[in-house]
Amino acid sequence: MTAVTGTPFALREVRWQDLAELADHESELFGSEAWSVQSWWGELAGRPRREYLLAEDAEGIAGYAGLDHGGDVSDVMTIATLPRTRRTGLGRRLLDELVTRSRAAGAERLLLEVREDNAAARGLYAARGFTLVQTRRGYYPGGVDALVLALDLTTKDAA
Ligand SMILES: CC(C)(COP(=O)(O)OP(=O)(O)OC[C@H]1O[C@@H](n2cnc3c(N)ncnc32)[C@H](O)[C@@H]1OP(=O)(O)O)[C@@H](O)C(=O)NCCC(=O)NCCS
Repeated sequence: MTAVTGTPFALREVRWQDLAELADHESELFGSEAWSVQSWWGELAGRPRREYLLAEDAEGIAGYAGLDHGGDVSDVMTIATLPRTRRTGLGRRLLDELVTRSRAAGAERLLLEVREDNAAARGLYAARGFTLVQTRRGYYPGGVDALVLALDLTTKDAA
């Protein structure tokens, strides 16, 4: 297991046995956009193009994140930390790991989509240097905009 530097969390790949527990956390974390166990199975079946990481501590799952590697562009598929761990730096560590793994896969750009009303996630991405490339008006249920953000992985500032 690889220790996540600077935090009491350990990072490892998501396994099939984790999926039921991950799906249990989803509705708390993503509400109506939660992934079901079936969705998670489909995601893991998509490896190695898909890559999913899980952070654990003494209490169990603390957070998770995943990527789609599509050649010169990787996409953040998901990133979440459990409420009990928030503002401890875990989200940043997971995002940094996604950046590192995207670069290792040969990507030059990392893309993601975030709800316009998700202040915590937008704060995390802005702090990491993501910039707005597109707004999808009314993309989410209820008419909330989706912001498409990108990080240039070719600059030496990207982890
Ligand atoms: C977004 C999320 C992953 C952030 O996780 P976290 O573990 O709390 O993040 P960190 O502690 O690493 O915070 C890193 C930085 O992000 C920003 N940030 C985090 N939470 C924030 C908030 N509520 N408001 C504003 N900025 C915030 C800050 O810049 C923070 O740095 P700081 O604590 O030094 O000020 C977490 O809130 C989450 O899981 N939300 C629910 C799922 C979700 O919305 N995922 C993203 C979908 S696009």
